[in-house]
Amino acid sequence: MELIIVPGYSEVGAVASDIVASEVARDHSLHLGVATGSSPLSLYEALVERHASTWDYSKLRVSCLDEYIGLPRESEYTYRKTVIRTVLRPLGVPEHQFTSPDVWNSAPEVAAQKFEEFLAEHPVDLQIAGIGTNGHIAFNEPNSGLLSRTRVARLSPETRAANARFFPSPDVVPHLCVTQGLGTILNSRMLLMVVSGAEKSRALASAVNGPLTAACPASIVQMHSNAVIVADEDAAREVAQAVWA
Ligand code: F6R
Repeated sequence: MELIIVPGYSEVGAVASDIVASEVARDHSLHLGVATGSSPLSLYEALVERHASTWDYSKLRVSCLDEYIGLPRESEYTYRKTVIRTVLRPLGVPEHQFTSPDVWNSAPEVAAQKFEEFLAEHPVDLQIAGIGTNGHIAFNEPNSGLLSRTRVARLSPETRAANARFFPSPDVVPHLCVTQGLGTILNSRMLLMVVSGAEKSRALASAVNGPLTAACPASIVQMHSNAVIVADEDAAREVAQAVWA
């Protein structure tokens, strides 16, 4: 596990984008797992600003960590649409190269199983992830199984409240989702976590310094064989000095 600490949010994006671009340079058709939410937006922007003219992203295979259940397929709030808007279009990746849990054409449990099977057949080379204030990763809330697989899960009240900022009103934030499991995420060849802001400092310290525990699902980063965390100073301020070295 490597922890890189940089001054602020835009530097998190710049440094993380350099890591993604160097992986893409080695393999233009790698499988990039993306996250939604605010944390990776500066990374996606930096990929365009710093690297789009240098590298060709059009052959990437892209998948995402999770999808809400209960939104119409054409809703702008689905993670599918969010990835199309923030990743695929800016980077020029064709939509047919993107796979996410298809919760619209089958029962959610079936969509979860199919997505898990897809990831088993096409392992993720580089998975980008954020972290929730309660230590969640993807939508694996506290007390998720450490080796859990892709499944239907319930969002905690804390996560629904945090994500309300993306919706027109807090009441319409879905309660359920399909999420990659912690065991599924551990199958990725490389895990790149991006973390910004003081509100994430407790969760980040627990993830990197605390015990490996389902109480902090992001602590699985300690078990990943090739994990890099890029955090800003505010997010890293509770991390023990020993890990900074
Ligand atoms: C998003 C995801 C979530 C977010 C987390 C942090 O696909 O799976 O785990 O990474 O909720 O969200 P932000 O970055 O908005 O604070």
